[in-house]
Amino acid sequence: MGLNLGILISGRGSNMLNLVNASQRGLINSKIKIVISNNKNSNGIDKAKRKNIKTKIINQKEYESKKDFENALSNTLKNEDVELVCLAGFMSILSKNFLKDWNKKVINIHPSLLPSFRGKNAVKQALENKVKTAGCSVHFVDEGIDTGEIISQERVPVLSNDNEETLGKKILKKEHGLYIKVIKEFERKCFNGKT
Ligand code: GRF
Repeated sequence: MGLNLGILISGRGSNMLNLVNASQRGLINSKIKIVISNNKNSNGIDKAKRKNIKTKIINQKEYESKKDFENALSNTLKNEDVELVCLAGFMSILSKNFLKDWNKKVINIHPSLLPSFRGKNAVKQALENKVKTAGCSVHFVDEGIDTGEIISQERVPVLSNDNEETLGKKILKKEHGLYIKVIKEFERKCFNGKT
């Protein structure tokens, strides 16, 4: 059984494209109903369009308040019958106003083994802290920055010659596999009537 997914992005959209490909190739049963970017210059939007996915730009600057912006996001997702919202490089902190309607229905992917290295530059933070193992996490979204309940993680060994670019690439590759794995787990739980 599949879910209706909505994906929120701000930038290049590699995680989004990975989910779109997985859906279109039948690797997951879920369907990508819409990809929304809060940034009109997001490369990801063109990638989604090329895959014939419905897209929309919802730019906070065009709304009077954060509340209006989030209501527009929420209504757009509801109009598409979205059941699970997947953040993939979405650079805006969602507030209680948005989350009240989407409790445990918004997940995010982050390039660190949370709770370590929340927020921006997570790969750089891992290198600066000289960790031996880095990785990525998928977590439920709450009002904090990368603070929500962890759903699943993948580990990536840090080599002595790794830099931000090499480690970042290895983590991104793991992110793509992890996001698919998590969506499959959601699909299984739905099928078993657990969510
Ligand atoms: C990923 O590293 C993700 O973990 C983080 O933002 C980045 C987005 O990359 N939240 P992309 O746009 O999916 O390529």
